[in-house]
Amino acid sequence: MHSFITAAALVASASVCLAAPTRLVGRSTFKIEQVAVGKVFKSGPVAMMKTYNKYAKVGAVAPSAVVAAAAAAQSGEVSATPEQYDESYLCPVTVGSQTLNLDFDTGSADLWVFSTLTPSSESSGHTLYNPQTSGQIESGSTWNISYGDGSGAAGDVYADTVVLGGVTATSQAVEAATSVSAQFQQDTNNDGLLGLAFSSINTVSPTPQNTFFDTVKSSLAKALFTADLKAGAAGSYDFGYASSCDDSLSYVTTH
Ligand SMILES: *[C@@H]1O[C@H](CO)[C@@H](O)[C@H](O)[C@H]1NC(C)=O
Repeated sequence: MHSFITAAALVASASVCLAAPTRLVGRSTFKIEQVAVGKVFKSGPVAMMKTYNKYAKVGAVAPSAVVAAAAAAQSGEVSATPEQYDESYLCPVTVGSQTLNLDFDTGSADLWVFSTLTPSSESSGHTLYNPQTSGQIESGSTWNISYGDGSGAAGDVYADTVVLGGVTATSQAVEAATSVSAQFQQDTNNDGLLGLAFSSINTVSPTPQNTFFDTVKSSLAKALFTADLKAGAAGSYDFGYASSCDDSLSYVTTH
């Protein structure tokens, strides 16, 4: 729902797919399969508006027909057709002592989670990260992120262990939400986001923090990941190698 493709961060992987995948012995590669967790509202016009909003700073202006269609979809003025609902595909990630279902987002760089610090009125139905089990507070650090659709979240920062596939980041910046916007509250399947864009756009203040990818990339066989995303089916992410060379949407980033 909050995924965008960042043009600067991603390169279409045609050339990578032509080459044989390289695997270096002793360094890690792993695949993360998405899991289908329930139906969510998906609207083409709303998705288009998010993209226009994202690139507004560099001059993108949405055609009025797109603005109108997105507004109608969001206000419920158009009747909900089956196509407006799709499965939500998330990835299980262990954060501290909890396994959460996170939305991997190549357009943002914050790993933030619903937490025991989130007011219960905002976190009902979500699996919560408990920073008191194993997290180390990063005193004085806060984060606050806004997405193109007006959703957002904010909170405090901990260093904690994050396990994804076979790879463990022992001191990953985990952003524990103390407030989340209504859109996230309502999507109870989604326990947070794992941003995969460049760490330079991480919102932690005063010092931006590394993404999970940047934390672990030196232990990967190659410092890249690919996203193999499908319509109407679970996709996957490969870390450390590029194998997703079928006809589906496939991107590789080489930070
Ligand atoms: C986060 O930023 C938004 C927009 O700038 C602001 O309205 C909101 O109050 C901030 N939240 C926190 C907790 O600082």
